[in-house]
Amino acid sequence: MKVLIKYIKELLQIRTKDTLFIKGAEMKELPLLKNAYLVIENDIIDDFGFMENCPNDKFELIIDATNKTVLPAWCDAHTHIVYAGNRVQEFVDKINGLSYEEIANRGGGILNSAQKLNETNEEQLYQESKKRLEELMKLGTGAIEIKSGYGLSTAGELKMLRVIKQLKKNYPVAIKATFLGAHALPSNYKSNKEAYLNLIIDEMLPLVASENLADFIDVFCESGYFTVKETEQIMKAGLKYGLIPKIHVNQFTSIGGIKASVNHNALSVDHLEEMTDDDIVALQNTKTMPIALPTCSYYLGIPYTPARKMLEAGLPLALASDYNPGSTPSGNMNFVVSTACIKMKMTPEEAINAATLNGAYAMGLEKTHGSITIGKKANLIITKEIPNYAYLPYAFGTNNIDTVIINGEII
Ligand code: NIG
Ligand code: FE
Repeated sequence: MKVLIKYIKELLQIRTKDTLFIKGAEMKELPLLKNAYLVIENDIIDDFGFMENCPNDKFELIIDATNKTVLPAWCDAHTHIVYAGNRVQEFVDKINGLSYEEIANRGGGILNSAQKLNETNEEQLYQESKKRLEELMKLGTGAIEIKSGYGLSTAGELKMLRVIKQLKKNYPVAIKATFLGAHALPSNYKSNKEAYLNLIIDEMLPLVASENLADFIDVFCESGYFTVKETEQIMKAGLKYGLIPKIHVNQFTSIGGIKASVNHNALSVDHLEEMTDDDIVALQNTKTMPIALPTCSYYLGIPYTPARKMLEAGLPLALASDYNPGSTPSGNMNFVVSTACIKMKMTPEEAINAATLNGAYAMGLEKTHGSITIGKKANLIITKEIPNYAYLPYAFGTNNIDTVIINGEII
């Protein structure tokens, strides 16, 4: 099927094939065409340019984008959208004064979600999770990473990863799966952490690999969760099966997880609310993408990732939602981009770069997603009539999206 989008007021994020990610001062630039057209052939961006060169071919569908902006669909490189039930009670507890840590210490938090998950069968889990994915697609997410980590048992972790595999099969959105067995210590291993680490390494990992259920490996490297040494142990074990690290680090404390992740060629290090100067230096001139999760900071009331300092040090930055039932019960990337501008003082150009091409890179999808490039997947957001693209983060809370196209399909 051949589709033409014409009279596009602004066509954003035009990149050559060899731009893999954008860093430092370059992130201030968002290359665009004004008064443009774009041609989709099946699931691929086939052509684009100025309206004066718009082709006269036969199209099965012509979309008029007068006064509208067109940009690549969001690339959300860090989520936990496969989970059971919710943690709305903890939300209320938090309002009444309990901290995230206090809730976790009472058996709430990740362990609460793990209990719910292990009581939920695979079909039910799929049904709950697919609703979230469908909602996110309508909000403009065209590529997404999804983690396990609420099973904390072999059966539970495999169940989550199989649900991710089903989602991948049934939806046009690009999905990458991450094995996060080391998300928390399950209560039945409370006094024997080493045994749980061995379970992850000797039992879970070989099964995950033999069913080809994951692309990446993750650890919650944090005081009170998994140490840097344990994180290294798991990264090494994952790498043996070809699973590239993408690691939760520096959410509450800086304990050296960034340097360790970089040393193990992590594709990304995520959260980064607490950053020391050494952490920033450890990321300079590496291939590891730092990912900020501003709506997690918003929801938990913790510091925001120091984006300005990191960009000024020449680092790249990606933005992701962290959608999960405990620390970020929302996956709306439009709100993530707004929050990054409002709270982290990223410019609209920087935030859009971070939520598209840099997000794609942070899940190994930079060759096919995240920019307007001939040959890449036709994953697009067409906005409503808006004055210009800065209006997207400015008008936070308003749905500015008119149409989402994923793999050439109108959602
Ligand atoms: O990324 N920080 C660790 N994991 C999740 C939260 C998990 C939860 O509370 O359920 C996060 O914020
Ligand atoms: Fe997370």
